[in-house]
Amino acid sequence: MTAPLRHAEPIVVQVALGERAYDIVIGRGLLASLGTRIKALRRGARVAIVTDETVADHHLAATEAALKAAGIASVLIVVPQGEGSKSWEKFKDVCEALLSSHIERNDLVVALGGGVIGDLAGFAAACVRRGLDFVQVPTTLLAQVDSSVGGKTGINSLRGKNLIGAFHQPVMVIADTALLDSLPKRQFRAGYAEVAKYGLLGDEAFFAWLEANWQEVFAGGPAREHAIAVCCRAKAAIVARDERESGERALLNLGHTFGHALEAGCGFSDRLLHGEAVALGMALAFEFSARKGLVGAAEAARARAHLAAVGLPTHVKDVPGGLPGVDRLMDLIAQDKKVRRGKLTFILVRGIGRAFVENDVDAAEVRAFLADQLHSA
Ligand SMILES: NC(=O)c1ccc[n+]([C@@H]2O[C@H](COP(=O)([O-])OP(=O)(O)OC[C@H]3O[C@@H](n4cnc5c(N)ncnc54)[C@H](O)[C@@H]3O)[C@@H](O)[C@H]2O)c1
Ligand SMILES: [Zn+2]
Repeated sequence: MTAPLRHAEPIVVQVALGERAYDIVIGRGLLASLGTRIKALRRGARVAIVTDETVADHHLAATEAALKAAGIASVLIVVPQGEGSKSWEKFKDVCEALLSSHIERNDLVVALGGGVIGDLAGFAAACVRRGLDFVQVPTTLLAQVDSSVGGKTGINSLRGKNLIGAFHQPVMVIADTALLDSLPKRQFRAGYAEVAKYGLLGDEAFFAWLEANWQEVFAGGPAREHAIAVCCRAKAAIVARDERESGERALLNLGHTFGHALEAGCGFSDRLLHGEAVALGMALAFEFSARKGLVGAAEAARARAHLAAVGLPTHVKDVPGGLPGVDRLMDLIAQDKKVRRGKLTFILVRGIGRAFVENDVDAAEVRAFLADQLHSA
């Protein structure tokens, strides 16, 4: 993979899903064209903007101005920032607000925010009037490379994350990379874990490019657009082949089985953001694969070294405040993934860019591995 070109024009990535196909448009400063793009997509549509309070502070005025300039009428639905808004209560509020604003089948819901807003607004759009179309305007790096693409929407149950939801593809994704300039550095870094994930799971050349160019991705030059486009292309290709996760799409869960257990073990608190848990989870997936003799120790160390270089946690001792013991972590892993006769499903690796689904991982082996990791911390 060579150095990125200067992108004067936005990059367009197509998600090939037949009649549900849509474009992801990526570029710096794209928000200003939101109104004209929506008008071209659906003349005469009204728009409901769903966002959170923090994103509204930074980017609502520009969003409303872009719609107004194209003569599009909009209503506004704002929820508090944070994972807590992926709840039954806020879901109900958003649905009722869409109905009371008379948003009809021909209108559009615009999800302006990170993964929380995309999941919540997308799920409300899936349900209200048996399905409203929606546009994703992702404002976090995680949302631009992951949650806004692929149509998974939903909220959290009292029994766990993302347990209530629907597949509902957006009709367009507008990823304005300049919106990420206002994102706190820690949030950006957490999103970067998902960027590195695409290299680690299926694209060694991209991983090598990231090792050389990650600073530019953080700084916001054309390397940022390039990296986001590579990730969206990778996710779009996987989703087009396996929309409902019956096979290959599971590869996107690299680092997520360990990651979810660690996240839950920290009570989904600010101690460990999702992307941070994924970084640590990927380091553990490589380490575990090395222990099973699937991948060389040097390659596992290379994966870990890059994640550590950008400032992501890669050792259990990197989690401030410590982690629960191995029994609790194993309970959390068992809750997350079905255990069949003592066997777990994990995404393992044969190398950088060579992840695969393993349905036959011995729970006892995972327990021993985690015990060693916690012990050496
Ligand atoms: N649907 C999917 O396929 C999928 C995939 C991965 C993750 N997710 C979900 O995504 C969620 C996490 O997403 P996230 O990390 O984007 O979290 P988030 O939406 O909570 O955003 C993180 C924080 O950044 C703030 N923020 C957002 N954009 C900003 C900006 N441009 N400037 C300043 N602040 C900004 C938000 O207000 C919030 O406080 C989780 O609920 C996860 O389950 C979904
Ligand atoms: Zn993730």
